[in-house]
Amino acid sequence: MQNFDEVIQRKNTNCVKYDAVKRYFKKDDVQPLWVADMDFKTPEFIVKAIQTKVAQQVFGYPEPNISLFKSIKNWMSKRHQWEIDTKDVLLVSGVVAGLSAAVEAFSSENDEVIIQTPVYYPFYSVIKNNNRTLVENPLINDNGRYSMDIEDFKSKITPKTKILILCSPHNPVGRVWKKEELKEIAKICLNFGIKIISDEIHSDIVYKKFTPIASISKDIADITLTLNSPSKTFNLAGLNSSYAICSNKNMLQKYKRIITKREIGSLNMFGLIAIETAYNEGDIWVEKLLIYLKSNISFVKDFFKKHDMMVDFENPESTYLIWLNFKGYNFTHKEIEDKLLSDAKVALNDGLSFGSNGNLYFRINIALPKKELEAALKKIFRNLKPK
Ligand SMILES: Cc1ncc(COP(=O)(O)O)c(C=O)c1O
Repeated sequence: MQNFDEVIQRKNTNCVKYDAVKRYFKKDDVQPLWVADMDFKTPEFIVKAIQTKVAQQVFGYPEPNISLFKSIKNWMSKRHQWEIDTKDVLLVSGVVAGLSAAVEAFSSENDEVIIQTPVYYPFYSVIKNNNRTLVENPLINDNGRYSMDIEDFKSKITPKTKILILCSPHNPVGRVWKKEELKEIAKICLNFGIKIISDEIHSDIVYKKFTPIASISKDIADITLTLNSPSKTFNLAGLNSSYAICSNKNMLQKYKRIITKREIGSLNMFGLIAIETAYNEGDIWVEKLLIYLKSNISFVKDFFKKHDMMVDFENPESTYLIWLNFKGYNFTHKEIEDKLLSDAKVALNDGLSFGSNGNLYFRINIALPKKELEAALKKIFRNLKPK
């Protein structure tokens, strides 16, 4: 039985979250609450499946089995009531790698790609590095509750607009888009011939009903390529194992050509095992994880309230990431950053890395044992006194 309270030593184990802190933050004595992986053990049933393979002591080229594709199909059906065909699934070695390939597949140089900011920072780089034009459709922030700005979206469309990269659920603002919201944006994409690349990597860490955009209708599925992975949910990011789903054969074929050209369609054998095992055996584990994460979110809320802190946030509907608003303090963004990093010695993601509308925001990762979370919050509290 998993003990989410167990503290695991990750420092000096070649992991980004702890061991790249110095490189990213220029400090090494800070508690890492940034990159999106969890300080929990990967579930035992997945570790055991990998150990069985390790025990064989042969690590030659792996061949994905149909049972892997069936596990993805079954997971989508039982968790999200989305009926997919195994033939519509393509393996990709990472969601970001898959996003970049999709940008290349569905647009040409200098075409426009729309993103809804603030958003996961590689959304910017996959557009720029493919020499496409990045167009921002900033989300509306209504007192911490974010929504899509449909009018602004419409106004940004030109004949060169080819793709919307949707973050669903949304990182960092934590929204699980309602079916109606997805329908509305998809309708415009349908009208204007815009393809949707939907990054649904956070879709299993949700505290309300999640709807895959491609599950809404055949028309929408026809313009959508979805990317997903069990990596966030089961803490498998180091295995670089993801997949794309697309029921439009034409789109899938185009996409496959780019995946092949970029040589990013082969997963390592542990990744293949991990996906299949996670999806076949992971239901109960996810429920337990969600309970722990929810209690950590409440813990943060209660802590801020109890200590009269002026850090504010809307409860995330998804993810273990909280988008903290520091506007209540009379400090500049840089001052907040210094207080967090140099005084409190905690490393949060800088809100500005998600977009210019991330000013005075920092993103905290709360997927860690409560005791460690409490230690971090205490340090923030002690070092964040109002002017
Ligand atoms: C929205 C989103 N997409 C993709 C990723 C990363 O995916 P991968 O590690 O498979 O490239 C993350 C990780 O935080 C994420 O938040």
